[in-house]
Amino acid sequence: MRGDFGVLRAMLRGIPKHGSHAQNLQGFYGTQAGDYDRFRERLLQGRAELIARLQLALPRAAHVVELGGGTGRNLEFFGTALDDVAAFDLVDLCPALLARARARFARHARVRVIEADATIFRPAQAVDCVYFSYALTMIPDWRAALDNACAMLKPGGVLGVVDFYHSTARPDAGLVRHGAFTRKFWRRWFAHDGVRLDPEHLAALRARFPRHELIESRAAVPYLPGLRVPYYVFVGRKA
Ligand SMILES: C[S@@+](CC[C@H](N)C(=O)[O-])C[C@H]1O[C@@H](n2cnc3c(N)ncnc32)[C@H](O)[C@@H]1O
Repeated sequence: MRGDFGVLRAMLRGIPKHGSHAQNLQGFYGTQAGDYDRFRERLLQGRAELIARLQLALPRAAHVVELGGGTGRNLEFFGTALDDVAAFDLVDLCPALLARARARFARHARVRVIEADATIFRPAQAVDCVYFSYALTMIPDWRAALDNACAMLKPGGVLGVVDFYHSTARPDAGLVRHGAFTRKFWRRWFAHDGVRLDPEHLAALRARFPRHELIESRAAVPYLPGLRVPYYVFVGRKA
């Protein structure tokens, strides 16, 4: 497909490793920003489902934050409900992707596009909802980002995550178990692009948010026929 070539070339080259995290993200996404949304539409499944579940859990006139929001594609999943949101902060470290988000929401006064690190960005007041969409796996200090997200949530606020993952060899009862091939293959495959699959993500989310919904699923991957990558959708409520 037209446009895929540049994205595939960047993915095959892998994320640069020698700059700061922000420089590496810019080096990786800079050449693919224009085709990012179209390609990721086929790669990043479960995003519409996450947003639909968050919408059910949100109060009216909510303040919502997406950490690692990239081009802002996910805000479009809110549809006309975006007009009911009091404020929406889209936070990311990559200028090339943020430029797409700024162009997309130039006329939307309630959407703020903010260049900042998800591990330290803090809104002025506590918020109703924070979510990560395929971002936790790309944030090296993901525990700090999760701590930060929890800290900015109001009591009763909602945390959402959709991301790639794999299970441990012996997951807790009721959770999906992935075989050795799945656990090793996808971890290695994504690491090349700075995407770190880690069963600790889901374990940390479940421990921090005992009240939660979890969907474990698998999705097709463009250009890898016959293979399906595991992903999860998590929605937790802060005590
Ligand atoms: C796979 S993209 C997902 C983008 C978007 N959430 C989506 O669903 O299309 C991961 C995003 O996380 C961002 N990111 C990685 N580390 C970050 C950090 N420390 N702070 C803020 N954003 C970060 C990247 O720049 C990138 O936009």
